[in-house]
Amino acid sequence: MKIKNICCIGAGYVGGPTMAVIADKCPDIQIDVVDLNEDRIVKWNDADLDKLPIFEPGLAEIVERCRGKNLHFSNSVNEKIKQSDMVFISVNTPTKKYGLGAGKASDLKWVEACARQVANNASGHTIVVEKSTLPVRTAEVIKSILDASKKDSKDSEIKTFDVLSNPEFLAEGSAINDLLYPDRVLIGGENVSSINALSDIYSRWVTKEKILHTNIWSSELAKLTANAFLAQRISSINSIGALCEATGADVREVSRAIGADSRIGSKFLDAGPGFGGSCFKKDILNLVYLAEYFGLNEVAKFWESVVNLNNWHQARISKLITKKLFGTISGKKIIILGFAFKGNTNDTRESAAIQICRDLIDEGAFLSIHDPKVSEDQILKDLGSKPLSQNQKSRNSNYDKGSWEFIKDINESFFEADAIVILTEWAEYKKINWDLAERRMRKPAWIFDSRSLIDPSDIKNKSFNFWRIGDGS
Ligand code: NAD
Ligand code: UGA
Repeated sequence: MKIKNICCIGAGYVGGPTMAVIADKCPDIQIDVVDLNEDRIVKWNDADLDKLPIFEPGLAEIVERCRGKNLHFSNSVNEKIKQSDMVFISVNTPTKKYGLGAGKASDLKWVEACARQVANNASGHTIVVEKSTLPVRTAEVIKSILDASKKDSKDSEIKTFDVLSNPEFLAEGSAINDLLYPDRVLIGGENVSSINALSDIYSRWVTKEKILHTNIWSSELAKLTANAFLAQRISSINSIGALCEATGADVREVSRAIGADSRIGSKFLDAGPGFGGSCFKKDILNLVYLAEYFGLNEVAKFWESVVNLNNWHQARISKLITKKLFGTISGKKIIILGFAFKGNTNDTRESAAIQICRDLIDEGAFLSIHDPKVSEDQILKDLGSKPLSQNQKSRNSNYDKGSWEFIKDINESFFEADAIVILTEWAEYKKINWDLAERRMRKPAWIFDSRSLIDPSDIKNKSFNFWRIGDGS
């Protein structure tokens, strides 16, 4: 079966970049990325590529090449489903906030809505591809909604469907590279002709050996498992980082030593402020829920401890900052460098910076927050408190009540600052003018580096007090 028209429901961090790469590699396929969110679609169609809703290195160039040719963004969900022979479901699957399984299970409201939209609007034979990360056996739910529509159909034309699982493994900040050179592409399903149709798309740029076929449940579970294993490595190394600080060891040296063992491998062993991002926590909690559902309580506890360690670790960092600044930060000015959950993305979902900043504000600190790609509006939404106005700042009156400002010029904010805290590994923070910082900051001035970004030799002969993650030396 040759695919001519693809529709992707969900123009988010996965739908947008994934479809852009498929469009670039398959000029003969028309691709429509659709979303209910009008503002997001307006941004995807903005002539100014700096205004795309997602920042990913390399994405704007692909959008510029394909948009309006075989890559289209719109809110016409139903219309585009009708035209397509393959529909990707790439919508959000956050943790349920209320009801059965609240706090752990995935909320499948959006996936179910998509299945109904496809059921109502598809025509002819449609291959439905699960791109969202889903609990095991969600394909069953989608299939039953689609099958029910076949029975209900008043059309003379017979609708047929097949469901595949094709989870996405891209990481934000390196999404385009990950899509172009994936370690593997995973396709779960039973129908050989549908599996081949999807494999044919990827095989335009991915070698056959890297396109893995499994049954649909293995594919769904493999995605959750991959994220759980990755997050587990970060909690593991962060736990060892705390031990390094207590014992005089250095976590970078420990990482290097264990990473040289080919069975362990060197990637994903950087201690940091705790993992963030929209998926690790929610996917592990989803796994915990599944294990509990099947009565596997020890399995559930094992994976839950990965999330618990991460929560403890984030709280540990804000407490440690307060302690080092003589036990009180009320009225003290702290410069926060980085708010995104990792470098090279504008995404702040579950960023460690959110909890750490909230804790510092609760302790009465005045934060000057900088991030090259995150907007002031986004920080406001995440912190839930308004920044100080210019007027309030000039009166200096609210500094000790716990508040924040958004800054563009780091050098200007050094004046009277007591500490600099690095929370995201943006490359530009490697080039900070430490001479200027030393001259302008209030003494004793502190640097807290939670990302091992600073080369200690850059500040060696300066008067700073320096703390960095996992450094007990
Ligand atoms: P996102 O929130 O950025 O995007 C989802 C989009 O779907 C939103 O724009 C929303 O408006 C839209 N949407 C929801 N319901 C809709 C409907 N019925 N019709 C049309 N549009 C609808 O989410 P994301 O980060 O792209 O993640 C999507 C899925 O991919 C999740 O399951 C996530 O776990 C998984 N995933 C994410 C990443 C990542 O790096 N963000 C990586 C791999 C997998
Ligand atoms: C992660 C996975 O890496 C992807 O394979 C997966 O597709 C995706 O989740 C998903 O399902 O959403 P992402 O969250 O975008 O990707 O980014 P990562 O690079 O995995 O980083 C996650 C968090 O861990 C970040 O806060 C990062 O700073 C932190 N991290 C990562 C560390 O603290 N140390 C490391 O060594 C690596």
